[in-house]
Amino acid sequence: MEFKKPRGTTDWYGSNLNKFNEIKFTLQNLAINFGFYEINTPTFESLNLFKKSIGEVTDITQKELYTFQDKKERWMALRPEGTSSVVRAYVEEKMFANKSNASKLFYILNLFRYERPQSGRLREFHQFGVEYLNVTNHLYDIECLLLGNKIVELFGLQNYVQLKINYLGDFKQRQEWINELKKYFEQYKDQLSQDSQNRLTTNPLRILDDKVDAKKDFVINAPKLDKFLSAEDKKVFEDILNGLSTNNINYVIDNNLVRGLDYYTGVVFEFVYTNPHDKSESTIIGGGRYSDLIKQTGGPDEVGLGFAMGLERLILALEDTNYNFKTNNNPKVVIGASSYEASLAAMHYINILRDNNIHAVMDFGNYKKDKNAKYAIKNNAEYFVFISDEDICNPKLNVEDMSNHNKEQLTINELVMRINK
Ligand code: HAM
Repeated sequence: MEFKKPRGTTDWYGSNLNKFNEIKFTLQNLAINFGFYEINTPTFESLNLFKKSIGEVTDITQKELYTFQDKKERWMALRPEGTSSVVRAYVEEKMFANKSNASKLFYILNLFRYERPQSGRLREFHQFGVEYLNVTNHLYDIECLLLGNKIVELFGLQNYVQLKINYLGDFKQRQEWINELKKYFEQYKDQLSQDSQNRLTTNPLRILDDKVDAKKDFVINAPKLDKFLSAEDKKVFEDILNGLSTNNINYVIDNNLVRGLDYYTGVVFEFVYTNPHDKSESTIIGGGRYSDLIKQTGGPDEVGLGFAMGLERLILALEDTNYNFKTNNNPKVVIGASSYEASLAAMHYINILRDNNIHAVMDFGNYKKDKNAKYAIKNNAEYFVFISDEDICNPKLNVEDMSNHNKEQLTINELVMRINK
């Protein structure tokens, strides 16, 4: 019987896993430097949490959730995103108590969406995300965008990524806008795709970022939210944009950027990557403010803010742009030995190297010098040591530097110092 991994999932190993771990480590450090604390939540939650947070008439809720009933017939879902779970944990664990400032949480989670798999679109994928809970000051929005921009710079993607930003207002303003959009799109109904025609009644905002329809002139010229925003909202958006300019962050305002999750209010944004070879676009970071989610999840009347980045999409972008990944599995030292007894002596040296945090390996049972040398070359080792039976008691080791094939006699301590210098 032949087993295959489910469509849209990945077996992580070798260089791909190294890349993932390197990115993860870099992002963890960065988030900690920005004052975030890491959080991990369960892989599944009650289905209702996601339905309520993300919205009943979103693609995620209607088409993409992996749901199941447990043995007590409770409906559960594999998490499709991190925000709903983090907010649930913030409320349930009462993290809001005794805190006057924002709680800053970050996560690296695997997530599940039943999508049509393609490059950068998976059924199990990973996000690095940050959430600010209890944000009263709009300086947090600026810092949040600064962090997104810092990630782009840190990975050398600044020439390929554009920040798109919009301001969605509150739910009341948005409803007024939606009503106007409905009326407007009715006139063009027969020019809309079947999907968009369905959205006309369920979620007309999504027509604005429909892959095909978004390019049509009447969609580009559709009524904007601007006129429903209060003077105060406009000022907030202006302040955020000024904050970006002050920090030399380039952006474009995209009035049709609405995002696919219902909880957003206020500023929303996406960092969009353009592949330099085929000019295809993919959103690597998406986020914004949410004013009702914490309260709606049973918590205090506090506002949240955050973004998430798809790690598989980031890796694809880094591969396209020849990012210099540093992590590999290459040993620093390969030790070969001419017999079982010589191998025992070699294991003593291997132990010392490992105690000094040096990656050292042996090919057990391989007693030929040339075959051991080949093994060192194949594994890209930096140093090759061979211990013959005559060398067993000799404190000086025969060390070959594999970069230039220079040979030297060194004690194990001298070798450790050479490598760790
Ligand atoms: P999202 O836009 O649904 O937002 O996802 C954020 C990012 O996750 C996307 O920009 C993309 O890079 C990645 N992503 C999404 N779906 C897939 C997929 N099927 N395969 C691979 N990568 C994917 C959220 O999830 C919000 N929770 C973000 C947020 C946090 N808003 C506020 N706080």
